Amino acid sequence: MRLLFIAILFAQTAVAQRQVINFNKDWQFILGDTSANNWRTLNLPHDWSIEGTFSESHPATNQGGALPGGIGWYRKIFALPTKGKQVRIEFDGVYQRSEVWINGQYLGKWPYGYTSFQYDITRWCKPGANVIVVKVDNSAQPNSRWYTGSGIYRNVRLVLTGAVAVDHWGTFVTTPVINEQTATVRVQTAIRNKGVKKKIKLVTSIVFNGKQVATTSKSLSAADSIVTQELTVNHPSLWSVEKPVMYQVDTRIVVNGKAVDEYTTPFGIRYFRFDAEKGFSLNGKPMKILGVCMHHDLGALGAAVNVSAMARQLRILKEMGCNAIRTAHNPPAPEFLDLCDSMGFLVMDEAFDMWKKKKNKYDYSIEFENWYRADLEAMVKRDRNHPSVIMWSIGNEIREQFDSTGIALTRELTKIVKDLDTTRPVTAALTELDTTKNFMYQANALDIMGLNYNHTIYPELPKRYPGKKFLASETNSALATRGHYDMPSDSVRYWPLRGQKFVENGNPDYTVSAYDHVAAYWGSTHEATWKVVKKHDFIAGLFVWSGFDFLGEPVPYPWPARSSYYGIIDLAGFPKDSYYMYQSEWTNTPVLHVFPHWNPPAGRAGWKAGDTVDVWAYYNQADEVELFLNGRSLGVRKKQPDDLHVQWRVVYEPGTLTAISRKNGHTVLKKTIKTAAAPTSLELTSDKKILHANGEDIAFVTVRVVDADGNLVPHAANQLQFEVTGQGTFAGADNGYQADHDSFKAPSRKAYNGLCVVLVRTTEKAGRIQLRVQSPGLPPAEMNLESR
Ligand code: GAL
Repeated sequence: MRLLFIAILFAQTAVAQRQVINFNKDWQFILGDTSANNWRTLNLPHDWSIEGTFSESHPATNQGGALPGGIGWYRKIFALPTKGKQVRIEFDGVYQRSEVWINGQYLGKWPYGYTSFQYDITRWCKPGANVIVVKVDNSAQPNSRWYTGSGIYRNVRLVLTGAVAVDHWGTFVTTPVINEQTATVRVQTAIRNKGVKKKIKLVTSIVFNGKQVATTSKSLSAADSIVTQELTVNHPSLWSVEKPVMYQVDTRIVVNGKAVDEYTTPFGIRYFRFDAEKGFSLNGKPMKILGVCMHHDLGALGAAVNVSAMARQLRILKEMGCNAIRTAHNPPAPEFLDLCDSMGFLVMDEAFDMWKKKKNKYDYSIEFENWYRADLEAMVKRDRNHPSVIMWSIGNEIREQFDSTGIALTRELTKIVKDLDTTRPVTAALTELDTTKNFMYQANALDIMGLNYNHTIYPELPKRYPGKKFLASETNSALATRGHYDMPSDSVRYWPLRGQKFVENGNPDYTVSAYDHVAAYWGSTHEATWKVVKKHDFIAGLFVWSGFDFLGEPVPYPWPARSSYYGIIDLAGFPKDSYYMYQSEWTNTPVLHVFPHWNPPAGRAGWKAGDTVDVWAYYNQADEVELFLNGRSLGVRKKQPDDLHVQWRVVYEPGTLTAISRKNGHTVLKKTIKTAAAPTSLELTSDKKILHANGEDIAFVTVRVVDADGNLVPHAANQLQFEVTGQGTFAGADNGYQADHDSFKAPSRKAYNGLCVVLVRTTEKAGRIQLRVQSPGLPPAEMNLESR
C-alpha cells in the first residue's frame, strides 16, 4: 500500500553516482505504546512535545516548557532507487536517546539530542521494501534546563554513493594564507574506498559565482584515505558580516576517466584574531562581537527545524545590528549555520551545558563519560567548514570548573577539538572568578576566557588575568514582557533577589515591565552591561542572554509562566523596547523609538490621568529629542556621553505624544503615539507574499488589533480564529505572552497587547493561499499569499 509514495519518492533518481535523498516524508509515528497500533503519518522534522498541552504536571516542569516528553516511535518503509550502492542514513538531530533498526537489525543508539550522526546501512538493505524504525526516548525528565522538544526534530537524508566516495563530513577546507593578491586554500579530503583497486584521481576545484577559479588533481592509490591539496585563489573576496561572500570547493573522484563521485563544500575566505588588548578583528579590521545567545526552539514550531523560521529570527537580529550568535548550549541544526554563513553572522558553536556533573537529574551527564568524544567530534567535523563559525565552546557554566576534575577534562576536550581543527580558538563560558578556584581556568588550555555575567568586574580583568583574551560569553539576563510598563522606570528591580527562587510581589498577571529596569539578580539591565563592553577594547564582544525569548526557564515566575522573559525579542518574534536601544547603538540606521504606548491599563498605579508616566526615547544620528504632549513641548533632552536613552516624566493625559529628533537643528525623525480607542479592525501584514511550494516555506503573518484610526490597541486581547485555505496549512500561532496556555497548534488564540503572529505553511503544490482571521465583534481580515 505504501509502494506508491515510494515510487514517487524515487522517481527523482539522478544519474550522478552520489544521490542525496530527502528522507523526511511519510514516516509513521506513534507516541507511547506501539501495540495500540494507531500510527499516524507525518513528515519530519517533527517535535511531538509542541503538539501537547501545557501542564504543571509534565515531568519536564515549566523550566522545560511544561510540555510532555515520553517515548515516541517512528517507522518508514522505503525502497532503494538503485542497486549496488553504499547507503547511509544521516540524522541531523534526534531528541533524545534514539535507537535505530533497519529490517529488524539493530544499528545503534545516539543519546545526545543535539549532535548529528549516521549509520551505514548498506549490508542490511534489500530489494523491495525496507523498514527503518527509530525509537526516541525523552521519558526520563527533567533532563534539561530549557525546552528541548522531542522526536526526530531535524532533517534526515539517505546518501547513496559508489564504492569509492568522499566520506561522511569528508572535507576540511582551510585558508592558511590570505593576502590581498591571493589566498591559499587547503583542502583535506577523506576518501572511503570499499575495495576499488584501480587508479583513482582526486580533482578538486574552487568555484566562485558559478565559475571555476582554481583546480588541481592528484592520482591516488587504493590505500590513500586522507589527501591534502592546495589551491590558490587570486584576488580573493573576503567573507565578512557585512559582505558574506561564499566560495565552493567541488570535489570529484575519477576512476578510469569516469567521475564516480561529486561532492561540494561551501566555504569562505576570512581571517580573524583575538587580541588580549585590542579585542577582536575580522580581516584585519577591529570590530566588536555584538552577539546574542539563542536556544534552538522556534516558538510555535517548537524544536522542529524550519529554515524560514530560522531565517526570520536572523533577519530580525540583523536589523538590530547583531552580528553574532552563541548557539546556547549545544550545536545547532546545520541549516542554521548555512544561514549564518550566507547572512553574515559570527558563531560561537557550543558543545555542552554539562559534563559529568549534572544540572538535572536525568540530563546528559549520565551519558557524558561514554559519549563526549563522539559528540564533540561530531560537532567539529560537521561544522568546521563554515566561515561563520569562529570559535568552539566546550561548555557552559560547567560544574567541573569548581573542582580539580576540571583540569584534566578541560585539557582532554580541548585536545579533541584541536586534533580536528587548529584554526579556531577553544573557549568555555565560565562563572567562577577566583582563578585559584576555577579549575577550567587552571587547566591553562582555553584560548579565550569566556566569562558569564559579572559585568562590574570587567574593568579589572586585565589585572586579574594578565595576558588573557577575554569575551563576555553571556550577559544581562534582563527581563521583560512586550508592551507592559511599571512605574517608576528609573529604579532597577532584581527579580528574583539573591536568595529567592521566585520574585516576591511580582505582577499578578506574570508580566515583567519592559522599561529596561528588571534583571535576574545575577544579571544586569541591557544598558548597564553594554556600557562597560563598549568602553573596553580588550573585551572582544558579548553575547546577550538572550536574543529571542525561548520556551522554558520562565525566571522570575513559577508556573503558570512557561517561557522565558530574557529575550530582546519575544517568542512570537515581536521586538521588545530594548531592541531599539541595541539598534541605536549597533547600527547606523536612524533610530527614534519612543515608549510606552499612551493608553493607561486598567487598575495599574502610575497610569491614570494625573499620574506621572515615564516616557523614554532611544535615538541615534541626532543631537537631541523634543517631546510634545497634545502640542505642548515637554522639553528637549540630550543624551549625556554615557547615556543610552533620554527620559521625561510626564503627567498623563490622553491624546498625542510626538517626539522629534534633530541634528544641527534639522529634523531627523518624528514619531507619534496616540491614545487608541476601542478595537474596530484587524490589520494583517506578512513577512512575505510569495512563497516556495516546497511544503516547508512559512509566511509569518502579523495580526494587529487596531482602532478606527489604525492605532494599535495596546491592551487588546481579542480572541482570534484562523483559517487557511488553498495551497497552505496553518502551522501555529503565538502572541509572545509568557503565561499563555493555549496550544500553539490550535487555530485560535488571543492577541496579547494587541499583537499575534500566524504561521502559514505551503504545501507542495503551487497556488493561492488565503488566511482568514476572525474575531467576535470585528470584521474578518484576510491575507492572500501565493505559493510557486
Ligand atoms: C545562565 C545560563 C543560561 C541561563 C541564564 C539565565 O547562567 O548559562 O543557560 O540559564 O543563566 O539567566
